[in-house]
Amino acid sequence: MRLPYALTTPLRTHRLVIRTMTAADVDDLHAYQSLPAVCAYVPYEPRTRDEVAAKIATWSHATTLAGEGDYWQLAVERAEDPGHVIGDLHFTIKSTANATAEIGWVLNPDHGGRGYMTEAARALLGIAFDEIGVHRVAAILDPRNTPSIALCERLGMRREAHFVEDLWFKGAWGDTMIYALLERDWGPSSRPRAADGEARRPSPSDRRR
Ligand SMILES: CC(C)(COP(=O)(O)OP(=O)(O)OC[C@H]1O[C@@H](n2cnc3c(N)ncnc32)[C@H](O)[C@@H]1OP(=O)(O)O)[C@@H](O)C(=O)NCCC(=O)NCCS
Repeated sequence: MRLPYALTTPLRTHRLVIRTMTAADVDDLHAYQSLPAVCAYVPYEPRTRDEVAAKIATWSHATTLAGEGDYWQLAVERAEDPGHVIGDLHFTIKSTANATAEIGWVLNPDHGGRGYMTEAARALLGIAFDEIGVHRVAAILDPRNTPSIALCERLGMRREAHFVEDLWFKGAWGDTMIYALLERDWGPSSRPRAADGEARRPSPSDRRR
């Protein structure tokens, strides 16, 4: 993999801007990360404003992926409404030896059903495969999370596994589903489509490798 890799400029798609978070994003994130329905299938409980502020204080410095465990927690905003966060995308390097990564997503339900997270995740997968040189990107889901499963399938990810009661999750044993996409799956059908707009990637001079 081509690490370290720094996201020094926002990633732009036809409708979206995907960027590092700042302290100014606290209220927008809190608006949806505090909702029980949004948090039903994510590892955390609804967050207070202070908890969101503490997270963002850490996430805002996580700009460079240099090795295992390094991550981005990125803000997604609509290009036509700059400065207003509609969702967040997680991306972490799981193994440098195996060139594997993990992706995750949370969208403000006010902006659901318009393909925004599909567009944002495709742009991030483009960076993962085309720029960083990742071999495999996985998403770990609760099998009850049908919108997230549908998103994986829209992205062309393969259902690889369904583990049964492998997790103590929010007071009960829960199942885990794994979807993944390989670099060789990342063909023309998976790349950002004309409707999504091609993700604009940072130029080589914009990033450290
Ligand atoms: C998972 C989650 C991000 C999916 O949100 P979503 O709105 O379904 O996803 P998208 O933004 O990609 O929108 C897709 C929807 O828009 C529609 N759509 C409209 N225009 C579209 C376009 N240009 N491209 C793709 N889809 C489009 C799709 O048909 C789909 O609707 P459908 O499910 O009714 O068929 C959201 O449900 C969520 O945040 N859940 C809570 C947090 C969570 O559980 N995260 C995952 C933890 S693993």
